[in-house]
Amino acid sequence: MITLTTSPPETARGDMLVWFAWQTGKKRCGIDCAPVRKLIQPVWRAGDFTGRGEETLLLYPASAGRARIAAARVLAVGCGKVEKDHDRLREQLRTAAGRAATRAREVKARRVVVILPDRTALPAAEVAECVSEGLILGNYHFSGHRTVKKDEDPPVRVKRFVLCRNGLKAPEARRGMVRGEIAAEAACAARDMANEPGNYWTPARFGDFGRRLARATSLTCTVLGKQELKKLGMGGILAVNQGSALPPRLVILEYRTAGKNPTLLLVGKGLTFDSGGVSLKPAAGMEEMKYDMCGGAAVLAAMQGVAGERPEGINVVGLVPATDNMSGAGAVRPGDVITHYNGTTSEVVNTDAEGRLILADALAYGIRRFKPDAVIDLATLTGAVIIGLGHHRTGLMANDDSLADQIIAAGASCGEPLWRLPLGPEYTRQLKSEVADLKNVGGRAGGTITAACYLQEFVGNTPWAHLDIAGTAWNFTDKPYIPKKGPSGTGVRTLLNLIRHWNR
Ligand code: BES
Ligand code: MN
Ligand code: ZN
Repeated sequence: MITLTTSPPETARGDMLVWFAWQTGKKRCGIDCAPVRKLIQPVWRAGDFTGRGEETLLLYPASAGRARIAAARVLAVGCGKVEKDHDRLREQLRTAAGRAATRAREVKARRVVVILPDRTALPAAEVAECVSEGLILGNYHFSGHRTVKKDEDPPVRVKRFVLCRNGLKAPEARRGMVRGEIAAEAACAARDMANEPGNYWTPARFGDFGRRLARATSLTCTVLGKQELKKLGMGGILAVNQGSALPPRLVILEYRTAGKNPTLLLVGKGLTFDSGGVSLKPAAGMEEMKYDMCGGAAVLAAMQGVAGERPEGINVVGLVPATDNMSGAGAVRPGDVITHYNGTTSEVVNTDAEGRLILADALAYGIRRFKPDAVIDLATLTGAVIIGLGHHRTGLMANDDSLADQIIAAGASCGEPLWRLPLGPEYTRQLKSEVADLKNVGGRAGGTITAACYLQEFVGNTPWAHLDIAGTAWNFTDKPYIPKKGPSGTGVRTLLNLIRHWNR
């Protein structure tokens, strides 16, 4: 779906040729390709297109007479003034590329030729990576379950992007392009899973995805069903599943290199629908709780990316506990006491605080079985994180500063910003129960932190970080490469970035 060409941009056939413009304030528009310059320079001189971010200009080379450009349309996309900071520069490219993909979809372009931006301080590979990411993420569309009416044009996606290297070294540009493609396709896979409603994307589907991925790649997959979870004593997953008509799953995906290499364990909340259970949620907006599996989707999608990229020097294990949270006759009752995988007992005061119950089992099991050097969990865990950070940053809590810093850096470099919140015994104390080792809610105060404290009880001394993506998994910050509505695929690219630069 994305390739690199070394031939000059004006000769490349396509429905659209894209040029990324920097806002320089200069008289000349600053593109090397002469035929494109001839087309745009008059508009630039008139001051109608200056390269400001958010600006786009669509032109038709043939309308000026005999065209020296093979593509049917030329799209100039403003990038703004070149940022000095590399993370911001990368985001500028991703954003501009996302805008290009959006415009291309609007005019139903199928084949889009893209001139890679020059005049940046970034290495060629990073330029190509960010552009490729922005194009693929911005080209995303979920067709859903709507029937296309006879007189209706179905929405289209761009079929092929062709990158023109524009003076950048081809091998480097190609390497970056493939990186960007793998990461963006993985994020789109997470969006696809999340977009399916709860009656389609069931716990069993998580298992199917894992098995299919393992068949197609070098990963191995194990899917544990209800009986196995019972034998293992996963009281948290089973309690949440008790009120449901659908059996739970625990999906395990393993990427193995040499045994001596460090192992990273990823755990994702795969709650395929969260009604709240007996502690029922209000009806308004409850349909959004089909997205409560975005953490699980991110973990499986990241494993897809790992399988595609085969990083050296690291083993990665992905775990997804999957169930819905329903209020059937067998449902867990407020006040019930359950026993987790590691023997810890817990008083279920609120059945809507279910994410921590399924994650606790998965964390304890994953750590005992795989002895990882670090653990990261992703979960749409608390509404409170939206109150605290809004929809612009993922909440991060960790028992290890170096792991926290690495994740924050990985997120910053791919446009998925995080913000760290504290942990501490004063918060954990809010989880004290009269009847069990823990209770599953710590009150309204510091709700995001006490949820993390619950998880912390199950990780021991293993370096661990928890990402609360409840505010960012959907309704994430408005930007051209993120869908306005629906899931963002957040977390996937942060994880892949982290794994690429793993050094502990
Ligand atoms: N899945 C929800 C958290 C959530 C809420 C995510 C809104 C996205 C948007 C989670 O299972 C939940 O219900 N948490 C409760 C915890 C409370 C009962 C302690 C919450 O945040 O209200
Ligand atoms: Mn809940
Ligand atoms: Zn939930």
